[in-house]
Amino acid sequence: AEHPYNHLTDTLDNGRIKFFNPQKLNDPRYDKLPLSIRVLLEAAIRKCDGLYTKKEDIQSILDWQEQQNKAEVPFSPARVLLQDFTGIPAMVDLAAMRDAVAKHGVDPSLVNPRCPTDLIVDHSLQIDYTLKNQEMELIRNKERLQFFKWCSKAFKNVNVVPPDFGAVHQVNLEYLSRVVQLNEGFIYPDSVVGTDSHTTMVNGLGILGWGVGGIESEAVMLGQPVSLTLPQVVGCKLVGSINPLSTSIDIVLGITKHLRQAGIAGKFVEFFGPGVSQLSAADRTTIANMCPEYNATVSFFPVDQVTLKHFKTISESVFLCTTKQCVIEINLSSMVSYVSGPKRPQDRVAVSSMKEDFQSCLDEKVGFKGFHISKEKQETRVPFLHCGQEYKLAHGSVVIAAVISCTNNCNPSVMLTAGLLAKKAVEAGLVVKPYIRTSLAPGSGMVTHYLNTSGVLPYFSQLGFEVIGYGCATCVGNTAPLPEAVVDAIKQGELVACGVLSGNRHFEGRLCECVRANYLASPPLVVAYAIAGTVGIDFEKEPLGVTAVGKEVYLHDIWPSREEIQQIEEDTVISSVFKDLGERMEKGNTFWNNIECPDSVLFPWDQKSTYIRSPSFFSKLSKEVPPPQSIENAHALLFLGDKVTTDHISPAGSIARVSAAAKYLLSKRLTPREFNSYGARRGNDAVMTRGTFASIKLQNRFIGKPGPKTLHIPSGQTLDVFEAAERYQREGINLIILAGKDYGSGNSRDWVAKGPYLLGVRAVIAESFEKLHKNQLVGMGIMPLEFLPGQNADSLELSGKERFTITLPDSLSPREQLTTSQGKSFVVTALFDTELDVNFFRHGGLQPGLTPAECALDSRTAATFIISPVYFHG
Ligand SMILES: *[C@@H]1O[C@H](CO)[C@@H](O)[C@H](O)[C@H]1NC(C)=O
Ligand SMILES: *[C@@H]1O[C@H](CO)[C@@H](O)[C@H](O)[C@H]1NC(C)=O
Ligand SMILES: *[C@@H]1O[C@H](CO)[C@@H](O)[C@H](O)[C@H]1NC(C)=O
Repeated sequence: AEHPYNHLTDTLDNGRIKFFNPQKLNDPRYDKLPLSIRVLLEAAIRKCDGLYTKKEDIQSILDWQEQQNKAEVPFSPARVLLQDFTGIPAMVDLAAMRDAVAKHGVDPSLVNPRCPTDLIVDHSLQIDYTLKNQEMELIRNKERLQFFKWCSKAFKNVNVVPPDFGAVHQVNLEYLSRVVQLNEGFIYPDSVVGTDSHTTMVNGLGILGWGVGGIESEAVMLGQPVSLTLPQVVGCKLVGSINPLSTSIDIVLGITKHLRQAGIAGKFVEFFGPGVSQLSAADRTTIANMCPEYNATVSFFPVDQVTLKHFKTISESVFLCTTKQCVIEINLSSMVSYVSGPKRPQDRVAVSSMKEDFQSCLDEKVGFKGFHISKEKQETRVPFLHCGQEYKLAHGSVVIAAVISCTNNCNPSVMLTAGLLAKKAVEAGLVVKPYIRTSLAPGSGMVTHYLNTSGVLPYFSQLGFEVIGYGCATCVGNTAPLPEAVVDAIKQGELVACGVLSGNRHFEGRLCECVRANYLASPPLVVAYAIAGTVGIDFEKEPLGVTAVGKEVYLHDIWPSREEIQQIEEDTVISSVFKDLGERMEKGNTFWNNIECPDSVLFPWDQKSTYIRSPSFFSKLSKEVPPPQSIENAHALLFLGDKVTTDHISPAGSIARVSAAAKYLLSKRLTPREFNSYGARRGNDAVMTRGTFASIKLQNRFIGKPGPKTLHIPSGQTLDVFEAAERYQREGINLIILAGKDYGSGNSRDWVAKGPYLLGVRAVIAESFEKLHKNQLVGMGIMPLEFLPGQNADSLELSGKERFTITLPDSLSPREQLTTSQGKSFVVTALFDTELDVNFFRHGGLQPGLTPAECALDSRTAATFIISPVYFHG
């Protein structure tokens, strides 16, 4: 069919390149749209198909002034970014779909993502104590790597970036981001959704994008848009000029603080003003990466280069003509050097007052800025032996110093400053005490490369900062353990020991349980505090260290100048890095190249594999869609309270030795050492189903104390949640879940809906749902039902042990009121917000089927299948 917006196409390059030009709408509202909203508009125009994206949606976006924060609009990003943890289940589902359609005599090679998908293998990295991580990682993950390699060959539109190239967002920035995409003769703005919260980084390059859950990303892969509330946009006007001594990190933390105070949760931030041009692309991506810290959906820096002036003017006029409240002004001259901590990233401390601040944290009562250590105990010094030499620990002693990826390493100037500082420190004769756990986790091989070519890498190494790997490292708690003597000394003196790191997050105890104070600092300051060995230092007044010959060295003696840094950056970084990463990517690494993998169209599942299993969602693929079935005489599997998070529903951490998942893995002859985490086993539905509700923090009202247990009501026995569910399934009893407010809040995880589905849960009745989670339930054909306002399980005097019958009307419509009955009856609202929701539910979510109504014939092949919640053309 003709595209409904054909009349908006324009051409370039003698007609060889086409694009949709929204200016041809001749709509005055267009001129008042912020640039980030124009990206949404262009995508909606281009993807308008009358089904997922309708003409009304384009009107809503044009009507942004009135419709912001009201209308729901679709967004079809240009590409999807997966990392291995979340990529596995999506790819496993696709592989299983191939099996399923093949069974029905359809060519399985037609099953492919419709949206280009990049899968980056980086999260499986765990830091083994000063080991050659890459090799260890590769061996441990061979099965999954084989599967990924098969995916890269078997599927169209799938690009797999092998391990050892870098953290997902880094690779995204350096290698995958295009700014402008060219596809089938059309150019359009690059945009992306990813399964990693750092996806927002690319907004620094003018590429609109953010993180979504595993199920959403899978839906996007298969051609469906993300649905979002038309966002409010806050203009952030940058003025003033950057203070020469401030690093990019200072700027970033400064801007972050302003944004956090401005309260912009859920909004888009769009930067403009004369200060923007002083920020390098790296600075911008760093700011954009901090979005989760200030809760904005994105921080968008419109593409500039040649058109900088032009775009700046547009933003200026857009934000001038709207109300004053939606513009924040930030003066870059006000940014001085900060660290933040000791417990939260938002607690900024000027480096100049760090010593006093730490002292006051020791004094203050326990809180975000307090440890409450008595004056007497503040004097504690604990001697200990390390490698035959005696050292002393005190409050404020640094025991972890990590220069790591995430925020900072994407910024060459900051890493080079750290490297030059290390060089000058070594040349001045300074050392880092050997018991401090130092590490260097560059965001990518590119960073190592430019640190090496600029000659600073050996100096990092001499101070103990060895490259430990390229994945997400210290930030997610994968640090190597501290020396035992250090841990003992900390415990013995009840010391407030410190970690200093250049990541973008830190929480108490997250780095390492016994390290109570953690500070975020720029990479050069991480090096400086490591040398000092304490955070209780005033760099102005006290020497950083004393050399073997007794010479005092101050920080300002060895701090590199901006000119030095810029010179090195020009000489080494700019010219070679991008070329290098690209070449490595083309060549691949030897291990990856040597992994054997079949050329088959269907994946040869290995029955013995405990990592990759064909999930059972598609086993019932049929040519008919079963009509929506009422739920009769269901039991409540769980009776939950308020604020059940996705972490309760599908924990990601280690697999407890006494859990249902552990029993399964033991039955596969694995030892507990080989269990790995739930995160790593997301490709195995048997483990993940057993892991559903396996959180030790789960508060189930059927059971007195927290734990992954429930009551099997008919027998009165207390069982693991999985075992109870399995027994109900054997007995042919449907299941529901009762819950309180905010059911399903927290990070999106792919198994939060698939897990309950495989446990046999047909409906969740809660006081309220986190919206994203509600969508996931619908996507799996589980009914999200809300108590009427003011009602809940207690007000209805439910014991949870009733049997529940939920009657569905023949034709469901959005926001249907349903009746559930069993002796007493009450009304709940079915949270189907759109026709699309109803549609997915009617199709039983991922329980697939062919719908005659929506089955369109195609001349080449048989049909368009609707396998909800995602569909693909066959
Ligand atoms: C920014 O701050 C500096 C120093 O505080 C001041 O001199 C300058 O006038 C300010 N610039 C703007 C545009 O407000
Ligand atoms: C971010 O949003 C969450 C939930 O909406 C809220 O709990 C949290 O306090 C917000 N954080 C900030 C820094 O605004
Ligand atoms: C650094 O560069 C040298 C010389 O080009 C090379 O031999 C060495 O392997 C490099 N080291 C790293 C860690 O890249």
